[in-house]
Amino acid sequence: MAIGAATSVACREIPEVMRGPEAGSTKPRPTISGTDELGDTWNDFEAITNYNNYYEFTTEKERVAALSQNFRTRPWKISVGGLVKNPRIYDIDDLIHRFEQEERVYRLRCVEGWSMVIPWLGFPLRKLLAEVEPTADANHVRFETLYDPQQLPGQRNKWYEWPYVEGLRLDEAMHDLTFIASGIYGKTLLPQNGAPIRLVIPWKYGFKGIKAIVRIDLVEQQPSTLWMAAAPKEYGYYANVNPKVHHPRWSQATERRIGELTRRPTMMFNGYEEEVAYLYKEMDLRRFF
Ligand code: MTE
Repeated sequence: MAIGAATSVACREIPEVMRGPEAGSTKPRPTISGTDELGDTWNDFEAITNYNNYYEFTTEKERVAALSQNFRTRPWKISVGGLVKNPRIYDIDDLIHRFEQEERVYRLRCVEGWSMVIPWLGFPLRKLLAEVEPTADANHVRFETLYDPQQLPGQRNKWYEWPYVEGLRLDEAMHDLTFIASGIYGKTLLPQNGAPIRLVIPWKYGFKGIKAIVRIDLVEQQPSTLWMAAAPKEYGYYANVNPKVHHPRWSQATERRIGELTRRPTMMFNGYEEEVAYLYKEMDLRRFF
């Protein structure tokens, strides 16, 4: 599958019902469904919004939706700075509408061994990075979640280094598949999925997809992340989906698609190998896991 082909299939035109001022509203919509470019059906809205990982609220996936309901996503600012020529602070509504909204249907594979197919709404991160213009010494992008233990009680848990931080190499961040999502199924993102905006990198384990972003910095050195600090032997910086490199405590060879009874084989780079393998050409993926 060539890049062009993948992009044209995985990134559909946004249907009329989801476009324009309506896009992102929470009004009821016609039931829409579809498949990814491999022919697998989108998970339904109920599953995507009621089975979540969000340690700031709880470690129980089925309880995140209820516990995050009153999370305040307005007012909200996102600062984009560090090694850039034009540092900016965006108001969330300006940022969401600044770039054309696209729908991207991506597989999400969690490091725990489950997966979903999700129709996201948003824009590629590369557009935002182009606007702030990384300087020549910027090599990585560091992302940070809101720190507010009042609203995010899990941040009082001393096991983890809060706030949640993630990072990408600059070329990974500039890849067209790397996406900033503000919606799902044409509706505004709900708190449990990372409202008001979160990152989505479909060829990496789901934990790279940091939620409720308030800060993006271009940096020279590879940043540490919440999961690397918590368990460095278990969670690496790259976290590329790889059925041959197992988690120290379980196999990554197969996965359970939410809604299915049997497990299916996990695909290299989560099925996006043709698009992204070149990023890791000379690298030992066992060492850089
Ligand atoms: N972002 C923050 N801030 N906190 C989290 O606990 N969990 C990660 C990721 N982003 C997490 C986060 C993990 S482990 C996964 S699998 C995905 O979010 C899950 O996204 P979803 O709940 O929208 O399916």
